[in-house]
This record gives sequence, C-alpha cells and structure tokens, in this order.
Amino acid sequence: MNFKLIFFIVFSSLILSVFLGTCLVTCCVAAIFDCDYAHIKLLNSGGIYKCEAKNFDNQQQDDEITAVDGLHKAGKTNRDVQILIIENQVCHYLPSGMGVFFPKVYHLDVKNSGLKTITSDNLKTFPKLRHLYFRNNPIESLPEGLFQYNPQLEFITLDDNKIKQVGLNIFDSLQKLISLSMERNVCVDGFALQEEPLRELIREISRNCSVVH
Ligand SMILES: *[C@@H]1O[C@H](CO)[C@@H](O)[C@H](O)[C@H]1NC(C)=O
Repeated sequence: MNFKLIFFIVFSSLILSVFLGTCLVTCCVAAIFDCDYAHIKLLNSGGIYKCEAKNFDNQQQDDEITAVDGLHKAGKTNRDVQILIIENQVCHYLPSGMGVFFPKVYHLDVKNSGLKTITSDNLKTFPKLRHLYFRNNPIESLPEGLFQYNPQLEFITLDDNKIKQVGLNIFDSLQKLISLSMERNVCVDGFALQEEPLRELIREISRNCSVVH
C-alpha cells in the first residue's frame, strides 16, 4: 500500500468532516433576523419605529434568534422598535426569545407566513404587547395560559386561521382587552368590540372550542 495515498485519504476525510460539521452548526442553529426599518406616522404620535422582517425562513421549532440584522435609521437601535411585522415570510414557529432584541414592541403582526402554533413561551419576551395580529395562518389551537405573560393586551386578531380548539379561560387574565376578532376559523367565526359583546363572544368560544374530555 502506498503510504502517501493512505495519508491523503485520511487527511482529506478529516478536512471534509470538519467542513461539514461547521456547516451544519452554522446552518441550523443560528437564526438571523433581517429587518427593514422605517419610521411610520400614526395618529396622535410623533412617529413610531418599525421593523419589517425580510428573507425570514424559520421552519423549525425552538430555534433561537442569535442576531438581528439590517440598516438602522439614524440614531435608532432595536431598542426603539415598537412595531414588529412578519408578513409573507416563512415563519412556521416563532423563535424563542425574540422579544429580548425588541423590548419595546407593543404591536406584533404575523400575517400570511404559515405560522402553525403559538405558545405562552413565544410571547413571554413581549411583556408590553398590546396588539397581537396573527392573520391568515394555519394555527389550529390556542393552548391554555397562552396570554399569561401579556396582561397589557388590548386588541387580538386571529382571523382566517384554522382554530378548532381554545384552552379554557385564556382570555380571563386580560383586563384591558378591548377587541377580539376570530373570524373564519373552524370552531368560531366572530368579532366583538367592548364589554358585553366581548364577554358574549368569549362565552361562545368556550362553548364552541373547548376540548371535550
Ligand atoms: C358557535 O357554534 C355554532 C354552531 O356551530 C355557530 O352557529 C356559532 O356561530 C358559533 N359561534 C361563533 C361565535 O362563531
């Protein structure tokens, strides 16, 4: 046997495995979140800073965001972002710890991005959340305790999902809730604004969407 040939084979397979290993680690663990930043003018406010996700592709559960990328407007950082929009992206699961990068977000919009599930853990890092708009995704159930870390929620919109199950009393902790919209779902198709209609819709949801044991 040729010693040089053996050496060459061993050496090149070593290089190849190191290369593949590095590639796997960098490809699949790190999720980088890419933002288009903009100022938007809203009524009664002097401009709000927004991040709109781009090139987002998250098909795995329990991915963690390791960095946020994008060109900031002058003098701004991720700590100034108040509105976060994920629209027409691939977002089957919300990465955990997302809000850590955006501590001031009060408005979270995930629209038409294939979102399959939401958990209280996903929402835990958004303690200031007031508006949750998750429209046109294939969400099938809302687990018990979903909003336990988001007591400031005022507007919830879950229109055009596939919701057929809603955990018991998930809206009870939301003292500030003003409006709830769950139009065109499987077990519910309704919208309500303020006190009595809102209480009635929540009662109907618990009748229509409770898990039967
Ligand atoms: C609850 O289910 C009933 C019967 O399927 C349906 O008529 C009603 O519209 C549902 N309520 C809501 C709020 O969707």
